[in-house]
Amino acid sequence: PQTLGTLGQKAGLRIGTAVNATALAEDAPYRAKVAGEFSSVTAENAMKWEAVEPQRGTYDWAAADELVDFAKKNRQLVRGHTLVWHSQLPAWLNNGDFTAEELREILHQHITDQVTHFKGKIWQWDVVNEAFNEDGTLRDSIWLRKLGPGYIADAFRWAHEADPRARLFINDYNIEGVNAKSTALHELVTGLREQRVPVHGVGIQGHLGVQYSAPHDIADNMLRFDRLGLETAITEADVRIPMPADSTELEAQAEGYGVLLRGCLLTPGCNDFTVWGFTDTYSWVPDTFPGQGAANIFDADYAPKPAYSTLRQTLALA
Ligand code: G3I
Repeated sequence: PQTLGTLGQKAGLRIGTAVNATALAEDAPYRAKVAGEFSSVTAENAMKWEAVEPQRGTYDWAAADELVDFAKKNRQLVRGHTLVWHSQLPAWLNNGDFTAEELREILHQHITDQVTHFKGKIWQWDVVNEAFNEDGTLRDSIWLRKLGPGYIADAFRWAHEADPRARLFINDYNIEGVNAKSTALHELVTGLREQRVPVHGVGIQGHLGVQYSAPHDIADNMLRFDRLGLETAITEADVRIPMPADSTELEAQAEGYGVLLRGCLLTPGCNDFTVWGFTDTYSWVPDTFPGQGAANIFDADYAPKPAYSTLRQTLALA
């Protein structure tokens, strides 16, 4: 029987999911679905800085290694998420009082250590995550404040030195359509490419909600990155619903997933479509948006929702 993974293969792209490390370890039906349905995986949290280096200089790769081994057994590629972000930093880093010079060295060390640890095992790295504000200015973060905007180019150069074969992405949300944020990102990567900075791809997260209009201009947007010679990917697709979800909303949700997938299929260099979790059981949505949920393609009993059928049908047509 065809899976999302095999249907994607025919369309020339990987179909991935974010993976919850606890569920992978403890929930057998969950594990079976990850193995059976998908052709790439992303650690939902296990490769983030707070997870891998809880104490300064003390690494804990256990959960991340578990996923990488699992992926290898199941012939899946791994998207590495994420090296430089303002969120989920370890307490020692958030609370530390470092000079700019020290912080730059800490970041360099982190990128080198992490990319080296996984060298040869990561297909695409989200090197820099969520660097922009909605208006297209750079986000005020510990990195921008202390290191200036050059931290972005540095991060890509350091990652490339550590694993020259990994494909290096910049990743963000609310950049599905043509807007101030995606345009600023386009300008940034244009400049980086001119300076020969090793940035290879743009990750479009794809966190949508049925109460907002879907990004129908997604192909316009993705194709302008394609024309720069960059790879693209949908990296975190989900479509949340104000609870409880009715059948109209489930159809709207399916349409949202379809819009994202069609954007990818219409873009020659789009090579991965990843959902940010596949079952409503483990979604991040209800914690972040109280009163909303049901954002995934399978329900809490692993029954497929209309969105799952839409992805299958859209892939089958491609
Ligand atoms: O690990 C601790 C655990 O020790 C503690 O007992 C528990 C109590 O709250 O919290 C656990 O940490 C949680 C962590 O996930 C690991 O499960 C955090 O509270 C929780 O906030 C965190 O949420 C994650 C969120 O990123 C944090 O920003 C979500 O699972 C994850 O899906 C979400 O993913 C992000 C992407 O990385 C970037 N793009 C947006 C996307 C959705 O927010």
